[in-house]
Amino acid sequence: MSKAPAKMTKPGEVATTGHEWDGIQEFNNPLPRWWLWTFYVTIIWALGYSIAYPAWPLLKGATPGLLGASTRADVAAEIKRFAAANGPIEAKLVAADLTAISADPELASYAANAGKAVFATWCSQCHGSGANGAVGYPNLLDNDWLWGGDIEAIHTTITHGVRNTEDADARYSEMPKFGADGLLETAQIGEVVQYVLKLSGQAHDAAKAEAGAVVFADNCAACHAEDGTGNRDLGAPNLTDAIWLYGGSVTALTQTVTNARFGVMPAWTTRLSEAEVRAVASYVHGLGGGE
Ligand code: HEC
Ligand code: HEC
Repeated sequence: MSKAPAKMTKPGEVATTGHEWDGIQEFNNPLPRWWLWTFYVTIIWALGYSIAYPAWPLLKGATPGLLGASTRADVAAEIKRFAAANGPIEAKLVAADLTAISADPELASYAANAGKAVFATWCSQCHGSGANGAVGYPNLLDNDWLWGGDIEAIHTTITHGVRNTEDADARYSEMPKFGADGLLETAQIGEVVQYVLKLSGQAHDAAKAEAGAVVFADNCAACHAEDGTGNRDLGAPNLTDAIWLYGGSVTALTQTVTNARFGVMPAWTTRLSEAEVRAVASYVHGLGGGE
């Protein structure tokens, strides 16, 4: 690499920068006009933009810009526009008889869509995005209901919630802690667990289950019914099917009988409008298990 002063090879030819590599010289071509002007225009544009729109960061927020543009205000306006557009149908939804919603195609379709959105935002954390539930959080797709599966029962459950302290009308019941509170001996718990296995059609110890039947009749039937099919007024689950809220294994059943469970769902009236509660009730009712 050698450094030579810039030189014109011939008159009218482009000067070189003086850089040369292995005999290849670098010409000192000026930038094309169009490129330079475009560059100046972008600088002017950027200055104008930063004056017109929010741009320079300050300690709190940023310069607001002369045009007063705000994406936050745009969103608020958009939400207001949607609320106004949905106003009439929401009023109709709130006024309708709960049982009449599914019969009105317009209402049913609005409730299904709005309810789906409410569910994704507020319910899916506990009940799963597909409403199929998890341990302790009931599956809402099946027709096995703790508190009832017609639209009115579902609406009540959602409105007031279950075993929460924030709503005086929350659905409430409390299974005793048979083991922890010493209501049953460990042996009796073992027996009644075998009886629950029998009720639900699982493999069990026949002798223990026979003794467990007596324990069940004395301690459990009041809530879970004589035949173990449960009681919706008390939210006491059906123990004769293969659908378990907390699990149907010996370990899970022993745990339930020993310590009880006390599943809690919040009330939704404080967070959702009546139209939203109705929409999501209608959506849940329409998932397949609705009665
Ligand atoms: C914090 C968790 C939580 C959230 C959030 C939640 N739930 Fe629940 N949900 C529960 C629990 C726990 C139960 C079961 C309570 C019990 O043991 O009886 C339940 C029960 C239900 C039931 C009764 C099911 C039956 O078999 O009778 C319905 C219906 C229901 N939820 C709908 C919803 C809807 C709709 C939303 C959203 C607006 C929602 N839940 C949000 C926890 C939650
Ligand atoms: C006062 C009413 C009451 C009594 C008495 C009662 N239960 Fe329960 N049981 C419930 C309720 C309510 C639940 C729902 C669970 C919860 O609290 O979240 C439940 C849940 C259960 C479950 C869980 C079911 C599942 O799907 O996971 C089992 C098992 C059960 N009970 C067995 C028994 C047995 C066995 C006895 C008697 C030794 C008994 N219960 C007595 C009210 C009762």
